[in-house]
Amino acid sequence: MKVTFLGHACILLEIGQTGVLVDPFITANEKAAGKVDITDLNPDYILITHAHQDHILDVESICKRSDSVIVSNYEIAMHYEAKGFRVHPMNHGGSWSFDFGKVKYTNAIHTSSFPDGSYGGQPGGFIISSGKKQVYIAGDTALTTDMKLIPLTYKLDLAILPIGDNFTMGIEDAVMAADFVSCNTVLGYHYDTFGYIEIDHEKAVKKFKEAGKMLHLLPIGDSITI
Ligand code: NI
Ligand code: MN
Repeated sequence: MKVTFLGHACILLEIGQTGVLVDPFITANEKAAGKVDITDLNPDYILITHAHQDHILDVESICKRSDSVIVSNYEIAMHYEAKGFRVHPMNHGGSWSFDFGKVKYTNAIHTSSFPDGSYGGQPGGFIISSGKKQVYIAGDTALTTDMKLIPLTYKLDLAILPIGDNFTMGIEDAVMAADFVSCNTVLGYHYDTFGYIEIDHEKAVKKFKEAGKMLHLLPIGDSITI
């Protein structure tokens, strides 16, 4: 499984021939300008953790071109189905086997309104299992003891955790989250995009290292393979 960081909270998973894009926010992300071209993205699926603008901005334009299936909570799925898109609704604690692997919609502590204020269900995250590989994409969330449930069933190869603080967990809580989900390999996301969430990269990597964990902070467009 190839995992590519496309800036902010946008992740592309390439699983065999299948492209799974998560939370596309590219065209208004100044940090991604010149590094990611959304017309290069042709995902089979778009997973959406919650309805905030910085997670859904480019869903419609990518979907129109690629005819991707949108996977999210029930309310977000219905929002896009009403606009004519193909969707697969889920809700917390539920999983479904797609052609590329199994997806579970996990709990997150956050909010989830659409940019116009309409209801976007409750926010979540995803665990994607494919072959022997398992990756957790936490979504925007606080540290929560719900995360301790994950390693009872999953042996994660990678945890993708928000680390920018202010709107989500910060570095110290993300170190604890990595403990809760029993995963020593972490990809940090949801940092540096706006003033509120700028972090000290060196300090972040050091905090994880002191806890015996590896924090990846990928340049936009870079990948890791698990
Ligand atoms: Ni959010
Ligand atoms: Mn966000």
